[in-house]
Amino acid sequence: MRYLACDTAKRISKIGLGTWQFGSREWGYGEPYAGQEAGAIVRRAIELGVTLFDSAETYGFGRSERILGRALGESRESAFLATKMLPVVPVPPVVEQRAVASADRLGAHWLDLYQLHLPNPLFRDTMIMPGMRALRRIGLVGEVGVSNYSLGRWRAAEEALGSRVLSNQVSYSLAARSPETELLPFAQEHGHIVIAYSPLAQGLLSGRYHRTIRPTNRVRAASPLFLPDNLDRAASLIGALREVAAAHSATPAQIALAWVIRHPAVAAIPGASSVEQLESNVAAAEIELTDDEYQALQAASDRFRPIAGPAAVARLVRSRFGR
Ligand SMILES: NC(=O)c1ccc[n+]([C@@H]2O[C@H](COP(=O)([O-])OP(=O)(O)OC[C@H]3O[C@@H](n4cnc5c(N)ncnc54)[C@H](OP(=O)(O)O)[C@@H]3O)[C@@H](O)[C@H]2O)c1
Repeated sequence: MRYLACDTAKRISKIGLGTWQFGSREWGYGEPYAGQEAGAIVRRAIELGVTLFDSAETYGFGRSERILGRALGESRESAFLATKMLPVVPVPPVVEQRAVASADRLGAHWLDLYQLHLPNPLFRDTMIMPGMRALRRIGLVGEVGVSNYSLGRWRAAEEALGSRVLSNQVSYSLAARSPETELLPFAQEHGHIVIAYSPLAQGLLSGRYHRTIRPTNRVRAASPLFLPDNLDRAASLIGALREVAAAHSATPAQIALAWVIRHPAVAAIPGASSVEQLESNVAAAEIELTDDEYQALQAASDRFRPIAGPAAVARLVRSRFGR
């Protein structure tokens, strides 16, 4: 495993583990996964040197945090444990109460990273951050983070906190490159980090899915990326991933992850539906892409133009209702 070069109390692995899948109905992995496989994934991740574990109070209505906390057990102290609060009415007493509830579900005395899941358009960060400051003061929270924040709002959050807002968790993959414009340069320059969620574009970049083999769960049925026409459009990007993968005796998913974490300020948190996937994702941390390979993937990603916006919504509605 490789780790981020940043001055945090615990090391942060370049490949972490996302746990939205744990106990969440929308992923559709069912009870055997929530009851057994998820725990086995966490335990194997620890054995392989993963320290970054990411959850949220909303995942499975708290079930993800409970599964993660149980599986971490004694290893909780060495893990860099991250979770997120949904900032609905995020006045200080609410922020404080929600952090305590998350820590309780995780069975933790300490949250290494407490993140705001998304920017609240009605509450400014000056109203939210006093709650975060109080949590740090009493020692329940180590680092503060945000998620789905623009650069302007990330900076404003930091000013409101009066100290470092370590991370911004955003969608970043070969199918979602907008963080490259502002967030990555800012993170690199200021010793902050970007936590890449959906680094496999929710499984699209594994190359497993085609027009005729589409994932059926609710998350991906609602995602424009998995529309049949977009799966066709992704073929050439998947082809480029396969080509680089062949040179490394790796899989397209591993190359997609190696590409994401090549940036020094980025850690990725892929989800996994099995222990085998987790092992494969961890192994991606060791893959060194050459400059030529990196650029070839970048070029293939530039050419990938999925149908998006209202046109995609209309198609999603048609595919949902079979018209
Ligand atoms: N902050 C936010 O707003 C936000 C939003 C989304 C996600 N997240 C976080 O980011 C984490 C990861 O994002 P995500 O789950 O949306 O997408 P992702 O990590 O890109 O995709 C995960 C899915 O890809 C497939 N997969 C994983 N490893 C694979 C491998 N080695 N080979 C082939 N397929 C593989 C699995 O699905 P199948 O096996 O079923 O194909 C898995 O469920 C989440 O768990 C969550 O913690 C945060």
